[in-house]
Amino acid sequence: MKKKVVMFSKIFPEFEEKLRAEFEVVGIDPKQGSRTQQLQEAVVDAHGLIGAGVYLGEKQLATGKHLEIISSVSVGYDNYDLAYLAQQGIKLAHTPHVLTETTADMAFSLLMAAARRVTELDAWIRAGQWQRSIKPSQFGQDVYGKTLGIVGLGHIGAAIARRGYHGFNMSIKYHSRQPKPEIANALVAEYMSLPTLLQTCDYVVLSVALSDATTGMIGEEELAMLQPHAILVNIARGAVIDETALYDALKNQQFAGAGLDVFVKEPLATSPLFTLDNVVLAPHIGSATLDTRYAMHALAYQNLVNQLNGQTARYLVDLAS
Ligand code: DGY
Repeated sequence: MKKKVVMFSKIFPEFEEKLRAEFEVVGIDPKQGSRTQQLQEAVVDAHGLIGAGVYLGEKQLATGKHLEIISSVSVGYDNYDLAYLAQQGIKLAHTPHVLTETTADMAFSLLMAAARRVTELDAWIRAGQWQRSIKPSQFGQDVYGKTLGIVGLGHIGAAIARRGYHGFNMSIKYHSRQPKPEIANALVAEYMSLPTLLQTCDYVVLSVALSDATTGMIGEEELAMLQPHAILVNIARGAVIDETALYDALKNQQFAGAGLDVFVKEPLATSPLFTLDNVVLAPHIGSATLDTRYAMHALAYQNLVNQLNGQTARYLVDLAS
């Protein structure tokens, strides 16, 4: 008998077809009613799940008695109840590496857009306000040669640091759980405490995984440490920053601006942030290029198939992490 796979979000048609050739496949469609209820019914006799962007824990999975693996089309795995999966013996696979460079590109896009006020001035032109040259109060600020502080020097953080160092002659500072000389030395990157980094860098990019330790890591106190000309970029997870405190700080022009790809609640259908012109907003698109998403879906497909066919998925998450 074929094993059963539940697609809890859409995957590329090519990989869906391949799955259908080998397994019984069921898709969850939020247009057909409660996603949780559909999941609870679909997992009863399922062996594997594949998808992204959906929280999966006991409520969604408890009816599944044969679950072997969840294959997430993402590098981050904060959407899964790791303790529950560990307790149930359900493996979790993810898609690191293939999105590193694309996500680093996005961090730099936000940094550049905020520094050069690209979206603000785009809106200004569209409003028919370009009657004469812009005023000095609308000038942006330099990126080249400035100081870039990276919070979280993992694969993506390191790729951002490389862009800053090699492409923009930036002086690199970083904060992470412990110093990482194997990455830092080649970039002449200096390890700093979080407060020192926030107080001294021109640009601060958040690139940490979401965990108990990083939730709310940047609150009112930390935001107050940023220099008046500083720009803050978040490509990690929304909950790393206290979003209300961020709104207040940006509204009061405590520092120059922010570029945000991630939010506490996504999708972000409405937010007071929409009223501010010193923030650039993106709909969680760090990895959203066609090539990279294709590579992520291919890897997630392979992780799932390997595990269901008795081999080990290439990228299993350490559920004790
Ligand atoms: C990831 O892969 O974790 C990206 O943030 C997209 O969710």
